[in-house]
Amino acid sequence: MRRIYVALAGLQLIAVLAQFYFAGIGAFDRPQTSDSYELHATLGMMAIPVLSLVITVVATLVKAPGRLIGLSILPLGLVVVQMLIIMLGRALNDGTGNTTAASLAVFGLHAINGLAIMAVAGRVLAGARRLVSADGAAPRTVTAPVP
Ligand code: HEM
Repeated sequence: MRRIYVALAGLQLIAVLAQFYFAGIGAFDRPQTSDSYELHATLGMMAIPVLSLVITVVATLVKAPGRLIGLSILPLGLVVVQMLIIMLGRALNDGTGNTTAASLAVFGLHAINGLAIMAVAGRVLAGARRLVSADGAAPRTVTAPVP
């Protein structure tokens, strides 16, 4: 079961990497349309939150330390922050929907928070791998034969 935890944590890190890749695709898409960031938005709103939730349940089942369980749910919380950043940025746009200095300052935080999500996903994977190696290093109980 702990190996499943490692596999899911690895999948989450790959999903976060893909999230950056899809942001790049959106940025280079011409002409910019409402679909330019569709892959990015779908992966961000669906896959990463669901993975984070499942990973947290598995972390509980494999009796991971409380800190690691907390880290496992953090990507879900940080994705909510990603959406709040975009909502706040849009609210600070001008009346015609164009960006303002204030909205751009807020939108920029989306990239920084994305880095935070990647760092957390990396730490969850490292923690999950440590759990598996701790399993391997655990001393085995040897029962001496009764003479
Ligand atoms: C783990 C990292 C990231 C996550 C989880 C994430 C998540 C999201 C989500 C859920 C949306 C859709 C929001 C909505 O439509 O309400 C979104 C949109 C967007 N993201 Fe990200 N994002 C990440 C990283 C990035 C990065 C690194 C960039 C670019 C540097 C970026 C640029 C954008 C842009 C331009 C949009 C479209 C905003 C719009 O439609 O107005 N994201 N992101």
